[in-house]
Amino acid sequence: MASVPFDQLEGFIWMNGEFVNWADAKIHVLTHGLHYASAVFEGERAYGGEIFKLTEHTERLHESARILGFRIPYSVAEIDDACRELLKKQGLRDAYVRPIAWRGSEQMGVSAQNSRINCAIAIWQWPSYFDPAQKLKGIRLDMAEYRRPDPRTAPAHAKAAGLYMICTLSKHAAEAKGFADAMMLDWRGYVAEATGANIFFVKDGKIHTPDPDCFLNGITRKTVVDLARARGFEVVERIIKPEELEGFEQCFLTGTAAEVTPVSEIGPYRFEVGEITKTLMNDYSAAVQPNHAIAAE
Ligand SMILES: Cc1ncc(COP(=O)(O)O)c(C=O)c1O
Repeated sequence: MASVPFDQLEGFIWMNGEFVNWADAKIHVLTHGLHYASAVFEGERAYGGEIFKLTEHTERLHESARILGFRIPYSVAEIDDACRELLKKQGLRDAYVRPIAWRGSEQMGVSAQNSRINCAIAIWQWPSYFDPAQKLKGIRLDMAEYRRPDPRTAPAHAKAAGLYMICTLSKHAAEAKGFADAMMLDWRGYVAEATGANIFFVKDGKIHTPDPDCFLNGITRKTVVDLARARGFEVVERIIKPEELEGFEQCFLTGTAAEVTPVSEIGPYRFEVGEITKTLMNDYSAAVQPNHAIAAE
């Protein structure tokens, strides 16, 4: 992670239809998105000069905005083009891409029906989400205290800024105890996901992953399910109870930032970095390369 603060990196940011200097991409302190979390965003990665599953991410950005009750004033194609152009302007081939849309400053109150919808894209270099050495050995997860909310109490399927409040709290608590991340249960007490990535388990040659009924059905999750099935592995999407953790042999996380990251430990339970996990790590690394993107759009 860069030691330079993010507002002091260099290059350009695409903001409301224009490329502006990185330092000039500012918003006012009285911005609805900041006070009331009326913001949705994406996290994408470029590999070898191409953004993996770009259109799928941009469509999810639009869908997240729709769930939060607003419409982004740029089409999917316009945002896709802006992402591609910005990647070139930043002179990067392997990079992290962060589009965001938010309600502006026109109204400051719970209701902000007439606020302007803003949209920006930033791209920067971001090699590995977890420490690369630790990643190969498997990362250690704490059990989070917060649970993924009931879809009746929060818009659980939007990639909305507000939903990350409990993720940051949970990740901070885990890091304070020396863990890399935390595994969250859902509102019913079933296994859900990590704070920024989906979770998978392996037992007796079969892959198990929770039904994404109250959290993001990650683009990486769907890609890895396809890759696993293409290899002939059985993938079971189902409710997973925390007491089942004891019987699982392997565990890994999937996410745009995390890619496929083996897990060695969750609370008192231990997992090996086994062959199925390694195979899917390699298959995912191959799939994201522009000329091998078998599961790409
Ligand atoms: C909470 C959460 N779950 C899951 C994911 C994985 O989603 P994706 O694979 O689309 O990046 C992410 C990352 O965006 C996330 O933040």
